[in-house]
Amino acid sequence: MNPSTPASPSHERFDWSEFPRLETPRLILREARPEDREGLFRLYADEEVMRYIPLDPFESVEEADDEMSWHARIFREQTGLRWMIEDRESGAFVGTCGFLGLEREHNRMEIGYDLTRAHWGRGLMPEAIRAVLDFGFGSLHANKIEARVDPDNAASIRLMEKLGFTLEGRLRQHEFEKGRYVDLLAYSILAQEHLG
Ligand SMILES: CC(C)(COP(=O)(O)OP(=O)(O)OC[C@H]1O[C@@H](n2cnc3c(N)ncnc32)[C@H](O)[C@@H]1OP(=O)(O)O)[C@@H](O)C(=O)NCCC(=O)NCCS
Repeated sequence: MNPSTPASPSHERFDWSEFPRLETPRLILREARPEDREGLFRLYADEEVMRYIPLDPFESVEEADDEMSWHARIFREQTGLRWMIEDRESGAFVGTCGFLGLEREHNRMEIGYDLTRAHWGRGLMPEAIRAVLDFGFGSLHANKIEARVDPDNAASIRLMEKLGFTLEGRLRQHEFEKGRYVDLLAYSILAQEHLG
């Protein structure tokens, strides 16, 4: 028996009827629209962005459509949410982030995130993920949020540190990516840590 008491966030539980919009000082996080396909394509066609992501860089804009279909499907199935990140001032598409693999029984899910290269190093993803964690713990009532990070992905590891994630361990040869087995670092943050 797990002796820890469940966190009791004050927010009303999210009912999945409408895709949620989140706002931060510099960003708007919203549902994907058909016109995001170009931005998504450019994001995932960039070899540097894809370096530590287990997919080959996109070669056609139709792959962005498939990605958006996946976003819609995980929302419909209530197993995840993927937000499009928009620069509040210019309205430009700058990246994506969200949840996947939501396991209701355990109130646990994983986060993923990727930012257009021109916007790296401005602290935008920490800002976006803080809002996503607030939503995950506050409105989805998650107990645990995980992230899997390539051990060579220094920017992502730094992001984990900034956000207060704990390194749980190294999953050895956990995925077969781009022709080789790669280790992944397992990070997590608990509701009791985030909500304080
Ligand atoms: C990971 C990612 C989302 C970070 O977003 P971001 O908004 O640029 O994050 P930050 O602005 O906090 O900057 C990254 C931090 O990592 C540090 N960093 C970046 N590259 C680094 C490197 N090669 N070595 C050491 N530190 C590095 C930066 O110095 C910065 O830390 P600081 O603010 O203490 O100086 C972004 O780099 C990205 O989209 N990468 C490609 C996609 C990806 O790998 N996604 C994650 C899959 S798990």
